[in-house]
Amino acid sequence: MSDESRASTVRLSSLSNKLIAAIIAVIFLVEIVIYLPSLAMFRATWLDDRLRVGVVAARVLDAVPDVMALPRSLTDRLLTSAGADAIVYRRAGQSQLIELAEPVSPEVVVTADMRQRDIGSLMVGAIDTLLAGPGRTLRIIGEGDIDESLVEILMPETQLRRDMIDYSRNILLVSLGIAAVTAFALYMLVSQLFILPIQRLTRNILSFRQAPENASLILSATTRRDEIGVLERELSAMEGELFSMLRQQRHLADLGLAVAKINHDLRNTLTSAQLLSDQVATLDDPKVQRLAPRLVTTLDKAIGFAQSVLDYGREAASVPVLAPVALRGLVEDAAFEARVAGHPDIRFDNAIAEDVVVLIDAGQMGRVFVNLLKNAREALEAAPQRAGAQIVVTSHLVGADVNVWVTDNGPGLPPRARDNLFVAFEGSARAGGTGLGLAIARELTEANGGQLRHVDPEEGGTRFELVLPVDIHSQ
Ligand SMILES: Nc1ncnc2c1ncn2[C@@H]1O[C@H](COP(=O)(O)OP(=O)(O)OP(=O)(O)O)[C@@H](O)[C@H]1O
Ligand SMILES: [Mg+2]
Repeated sequence: MSDESRASTVRLSSLSNKLIAAIIAVIFLVEIVIYLPSLAMFRATWLDDRLRVGVVAARVLDAVPDVMALPRSLTDRLLTSAGADAIVYRRAGQSQLIELAEPVSPEVVVTADMRQRDIGSLMVGAIDTLLAGPGRTLRIIGEGDIDESLVEILMPETQLRRDMIDYSRNILLVSLGIAAVTAFALYMLVSQLFILPIQRLTRNILSFRQAPENASLILSATTRRDEIGVLERELSAMEGELFSMLRQQRHLADLGLAVAKINHDLRNTLTSAQLLSDQVATLDDPKVQRLAPRLVTTLDKAIGFAQSVLDYGREAASVPVLAPVALRGLVEDAAFEARVAGHPDIRFDNAIAEDVVVLIDAGQMGRVFVNLLKNAREALEAAPQRAGAQIVVTSHLVGADVNVWVTDNGPGLPPRARDNLFVAFEGSARAGGTGLGLAIARELTEANGGQLRHVDPEEGGTRFELVLPVDIHSQ
């Protein structure tokens, strides 16, 4: 994903949008849970109000012996004040009825029995009313104010339904209002506390990644004490470290390039000096004859040093090309190059089995063996006691790897060499040594998927152990 498209994804699915959506969804969910019971209560109150008028009417009916004798105007007023088509009053097995002058004959009658007041049946009644079509007649039943009397009111359901719809609309409007205000307030709070700082961090990471060498892009941390504060400070510190590391690395690379150039010229100058010294050595002058060999070896050493520094510089760039290689042949060649094979005083034993094939870069690992064998030869040559000197290379398979030991019976590693054995320019404890051989050897071995370490053999001398990947197809 390109940086640009990543930045736009960050914008699209931004935290603030998600937050607002979540807040509104939660508020509506809560409103829906509250809505049904409150609608049921609204309906119950509405019906109770109508019943109360019915009870008053019932009291009138109770007081008169014959309802038919009541003036029409009175009964009509009673009915209209209750919004009813008819009111029935029952007591002790008798019932009285008043109804409108032109009584309507209801087609569908639904009963709302207000003696049952549990929330379940109230809610069922509310849903029923809300979903019902027009034209139904409502029969409200309730208790009268005298013992065991019952009041029934018949009226069209339309008015109740209309009031309930109005009530629902109001609730919806109020919910919208609450949701908007709450979402806004919460959004402001959360965005000040979290989203803005996180957006700042995100923007900073994106821009710093584009130009890590620009110190002005390093985040300036705030003094917050919470997790975001820690994140800011850590990020700021990390960017600072990255910035100086990059700068240091660039300086080192520049310096390395300069050293390589100087070294190259130095080597050429030394080589011309060597040609001159070779010519000087042919002069008959006894003084010259005495000094010339020293001059030649000094120049040789200087050229060797310049050459190995150049080699080390070149080494960094080469990527190994892995291929199956017969290990025994590789060691044999390295022994010749290191002037170990055929040495007059040193016995060399290449004890690697014929069939060991490793997956390595032959050129690079050849250099590793040359370095190890050369070190062993130099140590044996420098030892005062040369009799019985020997170098042995052995191998044994361990799983998918082969362990190779390069062992000599020389004086062992000098303590000075042990401390920085594999550190470039540091590990040498030998006059004229550069201290690059083992550093290069380890770097090359690891680049080839292997390991190189020094082990102290019980019987004395020096041993280097290599672990190399075996070529599985050759097994
Ligand atoms: N087989 C060995 N026996 C004893 N000492 C060793 C042996 N191999 C290495 N050393 C010691 O470890 C030191 C570091 O070896 P390394 O090959 O890294 O550098 P060097 O041989 O001094 O210089 P270079 O190889 O760069 O010319 C040597 O100077 C030597 O003292
Ligand atoms: Mg060496």
